[in-house]
Amino acid sequence: MRYNFIGEKSREFNAWWEWMEQMNRRNFLKFLVGGVFLLGGGAFLSKGAWYRQAANGVRELAGDLDAQYLRQIIAADPSTSRTLMWQSAAPLSNPRIEYRQKRQEEAAAVSASEDFFTDDGVTNYQYAASLAGLLPDTAYEYRLVSETSASDWHPLHTAGEDSFQCLIFPDSQSNDYSDWERVAQEAAKRNPEAAFFINMGDIVDNGEDHTQWQAWFHAVENIMDSIPFVPVMGNHETYDQNWNVRLPEAYLRYFVVPENGSRDFARYYYSFDYGAVHFIVLNSQWEETEDFKPGLMEEQMEWFREDVRKSKKKWKIVLIHRDVLQYRIHNRPERQEGISDVGEVFMPLFEELGIDIVFTAHLHTYRNRGHIRDMSHDSNGPLYILTGVAGNVRYPGLWIDHALDERVAPQPETDNYLTMDVSKERILIQCFLPDGQEIDRVEVDKADLEQSPFQGVVL
Ligand SMILES: [Fe+2]
Repeated sequence: MRYNFIGEKSREFNAWWEWMEQMNRRNFLKFLVGGVFLLGGGAFLSKGAWYRQAANGVRELAGDLDAQYLRQIIAADPSTSRTLMWQSAAPLSNPRIEYRQKRQEEAAAVSASEDFFTDDGVTNYQYAASLAGLLPDTAYEYRLVSETSASDWHPLHTAGEDSFQCLIFPDSQSNDYSDWERVAQEAAKRNPEAAFFINMGDIVDNGEDHTQWQAWFHAVENIMDSIPFVPVMGNHETYDQNWNVRLPEAYLRYFVVPENGSRDFARYYYSFDYGAVHFIVLNSQWEETEDFKPGLMEEQMEWFREDVRKSKKKWKIVLIHRDVLQYRIHNRPERQEGISDVGEVFMPLFEELGIDIVFTAHLHTYRNRGHIRDMSHDSNGPLYILTGVAGNVRYPGLWIDHALDERVAPQPETDNYLTMDVSKERILIQCFLPDGQEIDRVEVDKADLEQSPFQGVVL
């Protein structure tokens, strides 16, 4: 399967990618390295230095500990556990995490599991350490330690019982991640109390392109070391360098999210609790994965029912990459307004299971549809938010407004981000431009909603 970008901006993008395909990254690097050697600089280009040139923004954490992109990944119960990950160009000797309650002397240690893979001609060692048995709503600090050196201490705060704030970022896929860096950094600076951050999928433009992942990590490394990251898998995570579909190898290696009892698709979809909310991160890529690994949709639907019904949390929120609605497109009269394939599969289930809010992405536009049930506005249905765009791939003037859209971002769209403030009785969602200008806000009050059959019911 081949992916083509659509829209005016994307024609430039297609041309750029065509050039990239003709001169694939390996050839490009050979060309680059050859040029440097010709200039007489080859003597100092050891394998390690070559890697550091290829990978955008490599930083050593401390001394000879050649690790990078230390990050917190959400665990199923973030009030008592946390997954910590980092990566290295070469295997590390006995790496482990030391952690302690903030400002206390005594630290515990947990060793890491090692994984490695080669994408784009670059071998990447991934490490993951799981902290468990932590105290809820407690400030900890942790550091990465090897045989001979240690990183600085980094903050880690466990989840409390009810209230929290989080950041939600739409698709960050880009050919230059400086816009992503700007929107993420501005959002984090304005919301220093955010407990974690979500990316709604299409995290990178090409899931096999090693340099794009490094650029993405580099843009948020001072955020993800301090608060957990919640990844959602998008279709671009399944593309190889030739724009053919493959399984999301890099995504699965970079983000060791909870497995939650999935039978054949561990970490493709997952769930976790935070405060008063049960989050369910669904996977809309069954079309991409079907030829390689059939059955994602069927297994996921079965798991989803059980997962939601088991949860005692007051709020239930779904994160899924592909949107539930289908939009008309200018110059494509045959394309009708309506419901998307993902909407056909999941909207009835969202209604049946009493999902409160559904966040989607993929279309690179912000749209608040209000509450929908049976494809009509209805306060008893879930609130549907199409989250927008947080990279530099934009589709100006592409979509024709849907009858269910209640609020749309100012056109043509620049980047945006969302904050969500949760308490037991009320959720406030706000949408902002990168400069902090609020463009939408919506409140959901639990007391105002009628109870659907499964809300608050444990089966
Ligand atoms: Fe997408």
